[in-house]
Amino acid sequence: MSTPPFLSLPLALLAFATAAASPATAALILKVDTSAPGKPIGTDLVGVFFEDINYSADGGLYAELIQNRSFEYSPLARREWTNLTAWELAPRGGRGELDVDGAFPLHPNNPHYAVLSVRDGGEVALINDGFDGVALRAGENYRLSFFARRLYAGGRWDGQKSASPLPLVARLETRDGAVLAEQHFSIAEDAWVKLSATLTPTATAPAARLVLIARERGGLALDEVSLFPAKTFRDRPNGLRADLAQAIADLRPRFVRFPGGCLVHGDGIPNFYRWKDTIGPVEQRRQQANLWGYHQTVGLGYFEYFQFCEDIGARPLPVVPAGVSCQNSGHTGGTGQQCLPLADMDAYIQDVLDLVEWANGPVTSTWGAKRAAAGHPEPFDLKYLGVGNEDRITPGFRERFELIQRAVQARHPEIVVIGTVGPAPDGEDFERGWRIADELKVPMVDEHYYKSPGWFWDNLARYDAYDRSRAQVYVGEYAAHDDNRRSTLRAALAEAAHLTALERNGDVVALASYAPLLAKRGRTQWSPDLIYFDNTGVYPTLSYEVQRLFGNNAVATVLPATLSDAPAALAFSTARDTAGDLVLKLVNGSAAPRPLRIELAGFARASAPASLSVLAHPDAGVANEDGRPPAAATRTEGIVVAPAFEHVLPAHSLTIIRIPSAP
Ligand code: AHR
Repeated sequence: MSTPPFLSLPLALLAFATAAASPATAALILKVDTSAPGKPIGTDLVGVFFEDINYSADGGLYAELIQNRSFEYSPLARREWTNLTAWELAPRGGRGELDVDGAFPLHPNNPHYAVLSVRDGGEVALINDGFDGVALRAGENYRLSFFARRLYAGGRWDGQKSASPLPLVARLETRDGAVLAEQHFSIAEDAWVKLSATLTPTATAPAARLVLIARERGGLALDEVSLFPAKTFRDRPNGLRADLAQAIADLRPRFVRFPGGCLVHGDGIPNFYRWKDTIGPVEQRRQQANLWGYHQTVGLGYFEYFQFCEDIGARPLPVVPAGVSCQNSGHTGGTGQQCLPLADMDAYIQDVLDLVEWANGPVTSTWGAKRAAAGHPEPFDLKYLGVGNEDRITPGFRERFELIQRAVQARHPEIVVIGTVGPAPDGEDFERGWRIADELKVPMVDEHYYKSPGWFWDNLARYDAYDRSRAQVYVGEYAAHDDNRRSTLRAALAEAAHLTALERNGDVVALASYAPLLAKRGRTQWSPDLIYFDNTGVYPTLSYEVQRLFGNNAVATVLPATLSDAPAALAFSTARDTAGDLVLKLVNGSAAPRPLRIELAGFARASAPASLSVLAHPDAGVANEDGRPPAAATRTEGIVVAPAFEHVLPAHSLTIIRIPSAP
């Protein structure tokens, strides 16, 4: 964490004096036993859940700037979509045509491509508008690549074919036609060849276009037309948008769950997210419709997910379908769960086992060798594996889940299988899911809840009573939904209070992730989300700030503490981190400031410097607005604490006091 430097002592004392308020006003006393050994909890508690929803992947985290680069869009994703969506033919003095064809596919998984024909002299342009425009920055390098194949040169039918190469010009242009960068190519092969170049725009343009211009009579096949910023996160090829990836990294998540969500079990069996389809050369990956109403290129595939996890020091937590599809498949409104035929389960289970081998196996293993070939000989250290997501807990589900769970546990007892207990924190699926977990001794189950802020406050004791001999809990999806599903401070503080309860119960709740993580403005199917963005900006919410504060103040040992009174809307956790620092987290959900006396029993030092971080606003209804200063920002300063000290928790606030173990 970027803990700010402590203030010098006189200043720190001043800060303490300011924060201490009148000693006589502190009716509440928080007693923390700092000499107790405490309760060890898992250190992976706070992570993130990345689902390809809200254009989180294509058009979002995945840095590709060209939309429908492989001409594989289809009405299965969106009624009005065709293979040419996002592309436009523009005659520029010439006469030409744009077609879709499949006679010479680049790869069986990538069956369609565009044919650009010029009938007579003059230019014909093929234009891609990106994802609502291609955002470019002056002087930055952009890597253009595409596959091309000369179909014929000269006239198509008039016997005037020639052996000449066909010229093609690639330009970055503004929407009104100003040229920002240009490269020339010559297509001489009658077979697919990959061409590439670097384009460096001369001006910044938030919504430019890629323009491919043919200017000689003839026909060209084009596929996998790609434009990436050279500066991706950690400069990875086929990489991630640097600003968005950094915003996620700044949360310091201990794990990343991916790729869903409902996306995983899909809209019917053919729409399962199959991890093997998402590795290898991007032009050979099998793309498909996204059940959230758009398209998955899977350019951001399993290798890229695992690589990203490693880059940000988070554990990968992939989720595979449990052999059943989403119950909402096929517009059925909850009755459409399809079960993979039992005859196909052996092969399916082998796919799941292969995933473990791909992630962790030696380079000498079949799948470990594929990981190594992709540039990562070292294992990825996979520990957690989600099986299923919010499935209806039917007999068909149970049978298939059991087959998968038993196979993974037999072959890989080191893997923690995470089962599912339906979409809600109670109810029929929840009960059935838990019963299966008990019967099959599933090590962890995934609970989900999207509820009002009040529900979170009312359920702070939820896990206090959980039976520690049963499965551990992963709170895989949660968010407080305030009025109009806005990301208000009220919602964020309810989530903060919830997180203190999860920390206190960190012996049974092992993992937790807010949901969903990302949402593109204008392309959002679900609200609220943790981070909003558009093509040029990243807009974190107040819920993001809470997650950031918890991620950067992760703890390892919970210390016993008591509060003299139990007022409504006050939550806390008292703990040490792995370095032994004392970390007190206090959430005041009320509209009144709360004077508090904090007594640190067993605290040996007469005074000690500490850091104080406070997120607060008198109006709990505030929310961040895109591109504006945050409605409520974390204020961090140095203070001095003593074995007993007084502190006022502001109205509507999260306060974190961190006391380093060593003077
Ligand atoms: O987080 C959005 C969706 O909510 C997830 O896809 C699903 O698991 C849940 O219903």
